[in-house]
Amino acid sequence: MSDAIKVERDGKVLVVTFNRPEKKNALTGEMYVALNAALQTASDDDGIAVVLIAGSGGVFTAGNDINDFAQRAAGGGGVSDSPASAFIRALARFEKPLVAAVDGLAVGIGTTLCFHCDLVYASPAARFKMPFVDLGLVPEAGSSRLAVQRFGWAKAAQYLLLAESFDAEAAEKLGFVNAIVADEALLAHALEKARVLAAKPRNALLTTRRLMRGDGQPLYDQMEAELQAFAQAMRSKEAMAAFMAFLARPKG
Ligand code: COA
Repeated sequence: MSDAIKVERDGKVLVVTFNRPEKKNALTGEMYVALNAALQTASDDDGIAVVLIAGSGGVFTAGNDINDFAQRAAGGGGVSDSPASAFIRALARFEKPLVAAVDGLAVGIGTTLCFHCDLVYASPAARFKMPFVDLGLVPEAGSSRLAVQRFGWAKAAQYLLLAESFDAEAAEKLGFVNAIVADEALLAHALEKARVLAAKPRNALLTTRRLMRGDGQPLYDQMEAELQAFAQAMRSKEAMAAFMAFLARPKG
């Protein structure tokens, strides 16, 4: 299990923490494998009722590791069988409530995973960004559909096509986050809400969530279409140029 993903139990809550602060919690293939294992544990274990996802070091996550992207692109761009794709699929199909505590940057999957969370709490420093187009890529995790459904066309275009970031206040107005909580109280607040969910009658909670989510198939179909487009984009010159520009950028 990767040290860069911490998995801890707090009663009936499984707390999963991105723990690679020196790289802004950018997610590597190994970290996705660990995330998949954590979701599987949470699914299989009746003692776990809720999963809480958090960042560390004042960052939620800077998204997929761009070195990994560049290596994958150089190797032919296969994505549909990657650990990241497996995580995205598992997240969308996960049956227990998911809670997120977002402090600082939430880039790429850091933002798109929040669409799959039932409750999202953010610190005032939270900043959401989906820079796929700027990287020569396309959205993932169903975000090309979910952003339009949740935000309406105008805001979805602003955040997916212009790839502008949005802060905690904008996210709260959009109904993307439940509440803004001071960074020092954020994790405790999110954990408290997760514990409240975990104490509810289990069947009623899970059935209500299933009913709220409705038929998942259109979303799963959209995710597969995104993954195909993503694999194609990964092989493009514009994506490779964007990865190289990030990796070769001046430091300091
Ligand atoms: N992939 C790989 N490494 C990353 C990374 C990513 N997505 N995001 C940050 N890092 C690394 C940096 O390369 C740097 O490593 P180094 O110290 O070995 O040089 C370290 O994390 C710190 O990042 P740095 O860029 O110096 O911090 P910053 O505060 O100036 O900027 C970000 C933070 C997140 C704004 C910037 O790193 C960034 O734009 N990252 C890419 C985000 C992205 O496009 N993700 C893909 C989404 S699909």
